[in-house]
Amino acid sequence: MARLRVGVLVSGNGSNLQTLIDLCAAPDFPAEIALVVSNKPGVLSLERAARAGIATRVIPHGDFPDRPAFDQAIDAALRAAGVEFICLAGFMRVLSPQFVERWHDRIINIHPSLLPSFKGLHTHAQALAAGVRLHGCTVHFVRPRLDDGPILVQAAVPVLADDDEHSLAARVLKAEHQAYPLALTLIAQGRVRVEGDRALIDGRAVDAAACLMNPQI
Ligand code: GRF
Repeated sequence: MARLRVGVLVSGNGSNLQTLIDLCAAPDFPAEIALVVSNKPGVLSLERAARAGIATRVIPHGDFPDRPAFDQAIDAALRAAGVEFICLAGFMRVLSPQFVERWHDRIINIHPSLLPSFKGLHTHAQALAAGVRLHGCTVHFVRPRLDDGPILVQAAVPVLADDDEHSLAARVLKAEHQAYPLALTLIAQGRVRVEGDRALIDGRAVDAAACLMNPQI
């Protein structure tokens, strides 16, 4: 069985990366992580990858004159490793439109809100300020516009009365750890197709399999 070769781009802690590493550890899982690229040296993500025997590259964005040059280096590293599909997992750089188009429908991201609500940073503070009752995370295909693109999986969690940014972030992160492996499983099983601005699962635009309600570990 040829396994889908996945590249993961990271910048930090890598708890989402860890869930993907654990998922791909099963020998019969139809995807494998071929390369982990970090724009920051010394981050825990790199240690997690190394511990799992996964190849890593550090490509510091500060070493390049501009965004396209940095993206070109990432693209080259991914291609050299035979990567076919990219997962962004806490990657804190905005990718150039050229890069995103080159990987069109072959790159997904996890964002800590129920998109299209609360794009950008400080999503948990945004959710608390808006007074929403449900918050969560979204795995979506990447488009040139930030935090935009066909939605693949969403996981919702409640906002509780005594929540602060920290407690809400922790609840959402737990949901992320369910949502991202589910998304990669659907992709690796070849069940996902993108049509325009919709991600179809088994040919359907709406699928309960991609909707997680308050998932608990
Ligand atoms: C997650 O909340 C993810 O949604 C966001 O950055 C955070 C990364 O966490 N894009 P980790 O590095 O996976 O632990």
